[in-house]
Amino acid sequence: MPLLDTFGRVHDYLRISLTDRCNLRCIYCMPDLHMRFMPPARLMQADELITLARHFVSLGVKKIRLTGGEPLIRKDAAQIIESLGRLPVELAITTNAFFLDRFFDLFDSIGLRSLNISLDTLDEKKFKGIAQKDSFRTIWKNVETAVSRGYHVKLNMVVMREQNLSEVPDFIELTRSQPLHVRLIEFMPFACNKWNYGKTVSYAEMLELIQGKFDFEKIKDAKNDTARNFRVRGAEGTFAIISSVTNPFCSTCNRIRLTADGKIKNCLFSREEGDLLSVLRSGGDVKKHIVESITAKHAARGGLPPFESKGAAGEFEKNRAMISIGG
Ligand code: 5AD
Ligand code: SF4
Repeated sequence: MPLLDTFGRVHDYLRISLTDRCNLRCIYCMPDLHMRFMPPARLMQADELITLARHFVSLGVKKIRLTGGEPLIRKDAAQIIESLGRLPVELAITTNAFFLDRFFDLFDSIGLRSLNISLDTLDEKKFKGIAQKDSFRTIWKNVETAVSRGYHVKLNMVVMREQNLSEVPDFIELTRSQPLHVRLIEFMPFACNKWNYGKTVSYAEMLELIQGKFDFEKIKDAKNDTARNFRVRGAEGTFAIISSVTNPFCSTCNRIRLTADGKIKNCLFSREEGDLLSVLRSGGDVKKHIVESITAKHAARGGLPPFESKGAAGEFEKNRAMISIGG
């Protein structure tokens, strides 16, 4: 039985956050250095996480992405990844790549081949300003290793006017000689990240910046793809723009989120959350709660007003911080 919502969208893609902690402090994700994290007892334990994942799979989920915080920071990450690797799903991960070298062998053994790596700058000094940690060299070395080991590597860059807009061409340049897939992401509003509409560098603006500098072509987008994909002519890699703010892709959304404390979010921006972990712990009907959550899904943006409308920033501020949702 597929997870169908009232708008006819089939939900077969689950993103599970393993933890709300991270070894970095990216300004757009976890801007508050004194952020309070979830107490360990409230987190899904490994066995609980696997049980919940199985319920989703029995309801038609075909792809699971692990997110965070930073998923690989969790002590039992390897055990969880290994167990999830046995489920009949495509397993993927979004990571900051800091600990990646410890996981390549495991990923090889379970057939996880695709890595989404969050990286917003290629400049060591700027990295320290954006991620508030001096980790660029470790991360870049792991990116290079991932490429040389043949992984499909996507680099996620959140484009911010003041911090890294000028580096967009440098990222695209990388794709010429390496099979890297750069994804330029519009900056989205979450709690505490001081967003306003003017801060988002739009799809149109990014394209304009790129247009004069590269000879590129549009390439095919995958079904349910949130990215518009391009390739510099003759390049090894590709680049894409993810216009979550100026051209949201809600109408083809197939995503469900499970936070590290076991709450189902039917949308990145939904305020209503279903407490699946409590239902599981009290022996309740988990599947029923999953179905109810998907049935209640709004048409777009968790029912919140359009990003460009007056007062939007205040509304989106009431969501969780990105670090505790999981990208
Ligand atoms: N806007 C856009 N993308 C974001 N991410 C985190 N916060 C934001 C935001 N405010 C992305 C990061 C990371 C993924 C988990 O989510 O690029 O790769
Ligand atoms: Fe950590 Fe990723 Fe958030 Fe940066 S964006 S603080 S790497 S979870």
